[in-house]
This record gives sequence, C-alpha cells and structure tokens, in this order.
Amino acid sequence: MVALDGPSGTGKTTVARKLAQRLGAGYLDTGAMYRMVTLAVLRAGVDPADPAAVAEVADRAEFGIGTSPDRPEIRLAGEDVAADIRGPEVTKAVSPVSAVPHVRELLVARQRRIIEDVVAHRGGIVVEGRDIGTVVAPDSPLKVFLTASADVRASRRSTQDTAAGRQSSVADALASVERRDHLDSTRAASPLRAADDAVHVDTSELSIDQVIVALSELASHRG
Ligand code: C5P
Repeated sequence: MVALDGPSGTGKTTVARKLAQRLGAGYLDTGAMYRMVTLAVLRAGVDPADPAAVAEVADRAEFGIGTSPDRPEIRLAGEDVAADIRGPEVTKAVSPVSAVPHVRELLVARQRRIIEDVVAHRGGIVVEGRDIGTVVAPDSPLKVFLTASADVRASRRSTQDTAAGRQSSVADALASVERRDHLDSTRAASPLRAADDAVHVDTSELSIDQVIVALSELASHRG
C-alpha cells in the first residue's frame, strides 16, 4: 500500500491514479468521499458550519466510491456526481464539513474497510488524502508527502478548472488553495500534516512522469 498525502494542487490525484495503474494496484480518492458528504450537505440545504446537522446528513448519505484507477465511480444515492463534487460550491464548503469529528470517524472507518478489501483482492492500493499516513493507515509501508509552491499549485488548479469548463483565474485559485490549506492544516481533528516517516517530494519543478518514476522506484522497495 502507498499512502499519498499533501495539500491541493500538488498533482496528487493524477500521480496517485497513474502510480496505481503502473503498479496494477487499486486506487482510493478519500478527498472525493469528503466532497460527496459536502454535496449531500449542500443538497439537503444544511449549513456546512453546523456540525450537528452536518453529522446527521453524513449518517444518512448513501454514497459509493469505486477503486479502479482508470475511471473511479463516484455516486451519491445512485447518481453519478463525479463532476458535481469538483464544483466551486463544494470546494468552498468541504473544509468545514471535513473538520467535523463525526464525519471523519465515519469516513476513516469506511476507508479502512475499503483498503483491507482491495489489498485482499488486488494485492495493493494507492490511497490519497490529507491524513492517510498519520491516521487512516499509519502502518503503511510507504508514505509520501507531496508538496509544491503555492504559486505552482494555484496555476495547476486554475488550468484544471479551465479544462473542466469552470471559470478560473490564477489569483482566485491562489486565494482558494491558501484558504483551504490554512483550514485543513489548523483544524483540531486530524489536520493536514506529514507523517514523521513520510518521504517528502516537492513537485514544483517536476513533471508528472518524473514524480511517477520516483515513486514507482520507492514502491518497488517498500510498497
Ligand atoms: O483532495 P481534495 O482536494 O479533493 O480534498 C478535498 C478536501 O477534503 C480537502 O480540502 C480536505 O478538507 C478534505 N480531506 C480531508 N482528509 C482527507 C482527504 C480530503 O480532510 N483524507
């Protein structure tokens, strides 16, 4: 198993999927799980800043997440919400929702079950998130913490948004990644932080392929 953590815009999702394909492993996007609960909260008309109401929606939400690195399925009450969970409303509300301890307990338990199941059936999994090496799978044989400068992350996020047909400027993207990193790193419940034994990889000056090569090499020794 490979635990891949780091802030947004470091190339984590692309790296995690490609690495899983290369290793013939499964893939789990834990950020998508927090985004699905957030979408459910918004659709229920609940205030994302109301922890008790958010916890109630999380308990009732019926969501499913696939573990194929090729096209992971993302469904809320049976509906394909892969595009909706990346929209600006969800991106804005996801940090307060994921700071609710009950939401984290629920999702971490589910993530551990998925990991166990995929490892048993496929032999390996690449899991991406913010707390995989610290909380979800502290025994993972390989933990990687991806970083990149804030400017590089903002410009990547803006390119991604534009490619997905969402309006975006680098300045807006910078404000958004900095705001989310601050909230994710300062929350009380499992904040974004590198595990003590994580390998740090700064992707600012690296192409995706260079990152994949470096990580495959590490995984062949430890993964
Ligand atoms: O990775 P992604 O940008 O899709 O994650 C969305 C949000 O979900 C993060 O900003 C963070 O608030 C939350 N998250 C988390 N723990 C994880 C993965 C994501 O709190 N393991």
